[in-house]
Amino acid sequence: MTFENDEARREYFLGLLREGLEELHAKLGGVPFTTLEDAVERMKSVEKWPMGDDARLHKLAERMRHAASSKDLLQRWKDEVGFPHGEIEDILNLSDPPYYTACPNPFIEDFIKHYGKPYDPNVPYSREPFAADVSEGKNDPIYNAHSYHTKVPHKAIMRYILHYTEPGDVVFDGFCGTGMTGVAAQLCGDKKTIESLGYTVLPDGSVLDETNEPFSKIGERQTVLSDLSPLATFVACNYTNFSNLVSFTQEALELVAQAERALSWLYEEKDGVVASSIWSDVFLCPNCSAELVFWDAALKDGKMRKSFPCPHCGSAVGKSASKSTGATKLERPFDTRYDPALKKIVRVPKFVLVEQTIRRGSARHSLKVPPESRDDFLKRFEGRSWPDIPTDEFFPGRQTNKLINGSGISHVCHMYTPRALFAYGYLWQLELSSAKHTALFRFCLSAINNYISRKQGYFGGGGGVSGTLFTPSIHLERNVFDVLRRKIKKIGSLSVDKKRTSVVSTQSITWLNNIPANTIDYIFTDPPFGESLQYAELNMFIEAWLKVKTVPEDDCVLNYVHKKNLTFYSHMMTKAFSEYARVLKPGRWITIEFHNSQNAVWYAIQQAIEAAGLIVADVRILDKQQRSFNAVNRAGAVDQDLVITAYKPNGGLEDRFKLTAGTEEGVWDFVRTHLKQLPVFVSKDGKAEV
Ligand SMILES: C[S@@+](CC[C@H](N)C(=O)[O-])C[C@H]1O[C@@H](n2cnc3c(N)ncnc32)[C@H](O)[C@@H]1O
Repeated sequence: MTFENDEARREYFLGLLREGLEELHAKLGGVPFTTLEDAVERMKSVEKWPMGDDARLHKLAERMRHAASSKDLLQRWKDEVGFPHGEIEDILNLSDPPYYTACPNPFIEDFIKHYGKPYDPNVPYSREPFAADVSEGKNDPIYNAHSYHTKVPHKAIMRYILHYTEPGDVVFDGFCGTGMTGVAAQLCGDKKTIESLGYTVLPDGSVLDETNEPFSKIGERQTVLSDLSPLATFVACNYTNFSNLVSFTQEALELVAQAERALSWLYEEKDGVVASSIWSDVFLCPNCSAELVFWDAALKDGKMRKSFPCPHCGSAVGKSASKSTGATKLERPFDTRYDPALKKIVRVPKFVLVEQTIRRGSARHSLKVPPESRDDFLKRFEGRSWPDIPTDEFFPGRQTNKLINGSGISHVCHMYTPRALFAYGYLWQLELSSAKHTALFRFCLSAINNYISRKQGYFGGGGGVSGTLFTPSIHLERNVFDVLRRKIKKIGSLSVDKKRTSVVSTQSITWLNNIPANTIDYIFTDPPFGESLQYAELNMFIEAWLKVKTVPEDDCVLNYVHKKNLTFYSHMMTKAFSEYARVLKPGRWITIEFHNSQNAVWYAIQQAIEAAGLIVADVRILDKQQRSFNAVNRAGAVDQDLVITAYKPNGGLEDRFKLTAGTEEGVWDFVRTHLKQLPVFVSKDGKAEV
């Protein structure tokens, strides 16, 4: 199929996607679940959406039967497939079909038919199990273009893809996060990047390893990427579509300059432009009930004290009570006021502007804001009409409850100062000259979210505490335009200009009805590893801006607030690995990079792999270079990165064996087919771990 230009391609497939979504709503929406047969028949009647064969539809209907009686067929189906929450228009706006859909992608089968090779048991394939450091490449500018929870660097994944696949093979990652597997598969076609791994690329395309042995061929591999989170897949879609970045950068920087001029009233002060500001929580002294500004009371000699005297009554106070200092715990006062962004009266924790750094040319100076003028700043918003701001409330959860109960913040929009919120909201509304540039612009906006929100502390690193929604009591507000400009320039300086080789889908891995069996040549995957990272809760912070949100019920995590225990996790992982086993071609490999934060979770993964009929051939511990905050702070965390190598047993061995007997390929084929009871062990430095 050819199109006049990329926009025409997008429009055409958006039309198809719209028809599919409308058909789903028309045929399943508002229909109650009556009988299993009725549910199956109704799902079968959907023509424009891949629903799966009869047997799978029966299985699905069986699961749907157990949903709450108030849910119609559409909602039950959506819950099972991990269909994100969002209006049809918002899903379409975010999507870039056929490459990316902010819902399950109905075009994957066509993509695989077009690019993949059908499974042929007579085609010999042999590779030995392989494991390499998964933390390699964490300083790479591509890797750092957009942060995410426990990203696996693309350079580390490239070694695996080069080892297990050849150009044109189809690689899959169903917990794709930011799509590093897709970036890696794309860069397997890039000589410079391959050589940066210490390999040599010969003129005939052969890739030699460090011992000069040929082991692979240069050339892009195709990837199918999916994740439950629309934030993850939106980022993955952009990451795998980095091309012509110079023209994007020029347009984006010009647009930021225009926006800055249009909103000059926002950051302008008498003697320059606000480069950054310091904001402080306000607390109530539990002894004298007077209000105190944390910045004024707790800071001494540039350091924050845990316990300090109340400036009004002198009693020892702190954010937490302390036996050693005798400090009592401060309380949080709230303001009840009209919120112009939410357009309603809200109760918000008190928070004040205490200092500003003003920029004029290259000179900067800091100005303290006197107590009597701390609210003056709000006057500049009077009579302004606010851009479209997310009105979402954080739903209850492990991280969100800490935010709601700890900081008193209930809405996404209260994660920003009014100035940052106005500027950020304004920028999210801008459209560039093409859908691709608009998407890249929003990729940059989502990448700076942690840095311009109240997660950013005055003390501590950039972007705040990762893996949490923690808002420190002293916030460093950065000029949104400055931060965005820096991000855009960084993206513009990336030397990557590759053709698109990935198709991205937003759905739960537990039901891959849109990926046919035996079609995938290799899987690299990094599943959620228990309770440390609550993806749905954390991602909601940006998904509120994308207007398409994760189905939290399907998030494969341990979460006592959502009543997700080990049984839930094991159940989800078993379904996930069964789907992996179904779509993988027989005789092919899956690499599971797994952060082992808890042994019970590791056992659940092992059982899930085994129950799926995959055979574990090797398990290794890899030393990590960086520790995440949660891992460091969780008492008893096992905190190891494991690489598990497994394969799907071969079909058609006997036929192939006649052809390959006596060759190395034949031996590997035999080994992988018959040695089903390989012991599962963990090795470190070549020794078995006990
Ligand atoms: C460890 S992260 C993967 C990070 C990824 N390797 C990267 O480099 O960005 C695990 C991912 O699993 C996703 N996830 C959780 N439950 C899921 C489900 N039921 N189906 C698909 N993805 C799920 C989360 O949204 C998260 O992005």
